[in-house]
Amino acid sequence: MKRGDLFVTQVVGMSPQGEGIAYVEGRAVLLPQAVPGDKVEARLKGKYRGFLLAVPEQFLETALSRQQAPCGHFGRCGGCRWQDLEYADQLRFKEGMVRSALEKRGVSAGEFLPVLASPKPFFYRNKMEFSFGTDPAGTLLLGLHLRGRFDRVFSVEECHLQSALSNRILGAVRHHAERAGLPAYNLKTHQGSLRFLVIRQSARREETLVDLVVAQYPNAAVDALVAGVLEEVPQITTFVLTLHRGKAQVAAGQAHWVVKGRGWIEEECGGLEFAISPRSFFQTNPLQAARLYAMACRMGGDLQGLSVLDLYCGTGSLSLHLARTARAVLGVEIVAEAVEDARRNAARNHIANCEFAAGPAEEVLPRLQREGRGFDRVFADPPRAGLHRKVLEALGILRTPQVVYISCNPLSLAEDLAGLQAMGYRVAAVQPVDMFPQTPHCEVLSHLVLRE
Ligand SMILES: C[S@@+](CC[C@H](N)C(=O)[O-])C[C@H]1O[C@@H](n2cnc3c(N)ncnc32)[C@H](O)[C@@H]1O
Repeated sequence: MKRGDLFVTQVVGMSPQGEGIAYVEGRAVLLPQAVPGDKVEARLKGKYRGFLLAVPEQFLETALSRQQAPCGHFGRCGGCRWQDLEYADQLRFKEGMVRSALEKRGVSAGEFLPVLASPKPFFYRNKMEFSFGTDPAGTLLLGLHLRGRFDRVFSVEECHLQSALSNRILGAVRHHAERAGLPAYNLKTHQGSLRFLVIRQSARREETLVDLVVAQYPNAAVDALVAGVLEEVPQITTFVLTLHRGKAQVAAGQAHWVVKGRGWIEEECGGLEFAISPRSFFQTNPLQAARLYAMACRMGGDLQGLSVLDLYCGTGSLSLHLARTARAVLGVEIVAEAVEDARRNAARNHIANCEFAAGPAEEVLPRLQREGRGFDRVFADPPRAGLHRKVLEALGILRTPQVVYISCNPLSLAEDLAGLQAMGYRVAAVQPVDMFPQTPHCEVLSHLVLRE
């Protein structure tokens, strides 16, 4: 089979990233938008992640009823890939993806609980990161990436994952950027100014943070843009300008100016108050996050009198939940700014039994283990890559009686659970939690207990 070939095939499986899988001439083909049971006519596009990739041109038979995606950008946008699936079907597929990832690595869970649906399937995100770009005619673009294209942006008019206010801010920034005549930063020439727009909102406080990441500042045109946006959208409680001169395409930078408000926002979650700075991690589906933390605490059992380690703690959201019953909690986090937030968060909630250590978990945990520190419970919520090898090794030596693992990637979770099983843990329970409706992503809570 060669690029451009058209073929008819039956979809028989789903990849861990949510594409349909078919087998053609003995080779696995990924089919975006297709699900098991569909029969499609598809055109071969090339290779992707080591598999063949084909795009369905016609659905000859469909396994389930598809719905009209509410968002006008559906299909082009790299964000929501499952908007045409009913929410109940999305949940069923997520559960299946978690089950199959665990099975493939030989992980057997004592109890596999049904996936917990998000309270809101749309407009649930408290943070959006938009990129600037330019179209071939030279028009400024501000929006999200085209599906599968890290280097191409399209202008978002209305995103169905963020609030109406956030959509208004997006439009206002684009309008005032055009008026100020500011060019987007060019990835090839490294010329131009505008790079990213980050909007963060609190679900339970009326607070909104805007962080505009630019490649040149001080700059009068940027000042004009900011003044125009703040006048048009006075609901923005704080506005931060970030200067990012580096080549890496990340919404971070070397210098910051707080041009309105205090530079951070406040959120309430599970009865606790949190300060969130522009670069601190905070769960993006805050209503579901409150339920995730409550379930994680329950999985850890009665923490009265116990010493708890919270690895990859971010701004301390879970740590502070745990500290309400535990004797002592130590949170470990690599982002120094998040650790500062975590300490401030402990103080603002009058929590004195929670400490935080800044540094990579793969350095901090082996050091704690060499120093002879022991814990009654470990909670770990690593980024998508999962636990660092040195963290796994240290956990194998520490032999904490129970571990609660929160994962946003079933593949790395399966690897890590297999490693922990080999070290003597049994996986007592697994609970998928949908934090990301309309996408194939799935959060998973797992409870591990050390065998006698
Ligand atoms: C999925 S988030 C979880 C944060 C927190 N548990 C929460 O719910 O808000 C993962 C966190 O791990 C941090 N992180 C990434 N790599 C790390 C490392 N090597 N060591 C420690 N923390 C790390 C990130 O900055 C982020 O705050």
